[in-house]
Amino acid sequence: MSNGLENIVAAHTVLSDVDGAAGRLIICGHSLDELAGRTSFEQMAGRMLGGFLPDWPAPDAVPAALAAARRDLFETIVQTASLPLRLGPVELVRALTALIPDGESVETALKLLAAPAVFTPAVLRLRAGLEPIAPDATLSQAADTLHMLTGTTPGPQQAAALDTYLITVADHGLNASTFAARVVASTRAGLVSAVLAGISALKGPLHGGAPGPVIEMLDAIGSAQNARPWLEAALDRGDRLMGFGHRIYRVRDPRADALKGAIRELGADTGRLVLAEAVEQAALAILRERKPDRTLETNVEFYTALLLEALGFPPEAFTCVFALGRTTGWLAHAREQIAGGKLVRPQSVYVGPRPQAAA
Ligand code: ACO
Repeated sequence: MSNGLENIVAAHTVLSDVDGAAGRLIICGHSLDELAGRTSFEQMAGRMLGGFLPDWPAPDAVPAALAAARRDLFETIVQTASLPLRLGPVELVRALTALIPDGESVETALKLLAAPAVFTPAVLRLRAGLEPIAPDATLSQAADTLHMLTGTTPGPQQAAALDTYLITVADHGLNASTFAARVVASTRAGLVSAVLAGISALKGPLHGGAPGPVIEMLDAIGSAQNARPWLEAALDRGDRLMGFGHRIYRVRDPRADALKGAIRELGADTGRLVLAEAVEQAALAILRERKPDRTLETNVEFYTALLLEALGFPPEAFTCVFALGRTTGWLAHAREQIAGGKLVRPQSVYVGPRPQAAA
């Protein structure tokens, strides 16, 4: 038995390679350095899904196909569904996604790719008592997401920063949410079901739910001088420091620096970045002192929090934006699982009581 399936290999994939010792990430044959800042969401979706969906649109038709999917979701779901607004943004995005009819077609895949882009701004606005904003078909998916959030068309720098985030998190080996999506896909339940499994696994604080708490941590710390005492107290309570540690990386997560670069290019609030860097250095030093046998480095979530905050997303919606990037990976893995994988069905060892032998 391997607790947490640690070190278990459960798939061959052409989608991504996570080298945890060297701190390198390859997605579809390209290193993260080659992709970050140079690839749009639309191009990444084509690169990852084109080979798995025979009717995938030609590269120059992908933006229009995604724009059509956004409009369709806005008209058929956002404008008709009645939402229990007491739920949080991730739960609402998951609920709205569940209204997409299940299937395996390219239309279903395009709707799923567009879903978090449309549903995240809509649920945030509805929760704030505002009207949802209709998508704009002339914008890229990243730019339109920001437009639906604020009502203004973002500048090219904002759209490029969101694209960098989305492609940086598009795929990452057999992480918990991708594995969940592959398990569901292996039963042939359909792509919507696979993506719903992915969202559900992603929302946990040990996975894609970490960046919201990173903001809470930075706000609570408040100043560089307060970093060490605050972090020491958190570890004394038995808390984990959000944005640090990883199952695979034993060095710094390469995605952290890709996102830090995007924050710098955005010219965001430098005071916030200075505080974050001070907290990061203090956290790394304390983790080294307290866990000398376990390398705990900065993971993707730490700078995710700062980048998404700078782009105007509230912390409670960070996981929805993560889902927007990772849906590409979930869909590609689901199709890969269906193409070559068997039903996922591991075994367990029974350690409970045995029936009494008949007297
Ligand atoms: N803060 C404090 N201690 C930590 C942290 C942390 N962030 N991460 C791990 N540790 C400690 C554990 O308490 C454990 O100590 P112990 O051996 O004394 O009990 C030891 O390091 C090993 O931890 P594991 O739980 O075995 O490591 P695992 O590989 O299962 O966990 C995980 C990886 C879940 C990411 C963990 O590092 C963590 O909880 N980090 C904080 C949450 C976070 O940032 N999640 C986002 C991850 S990136 C992503 O999913 C996109």
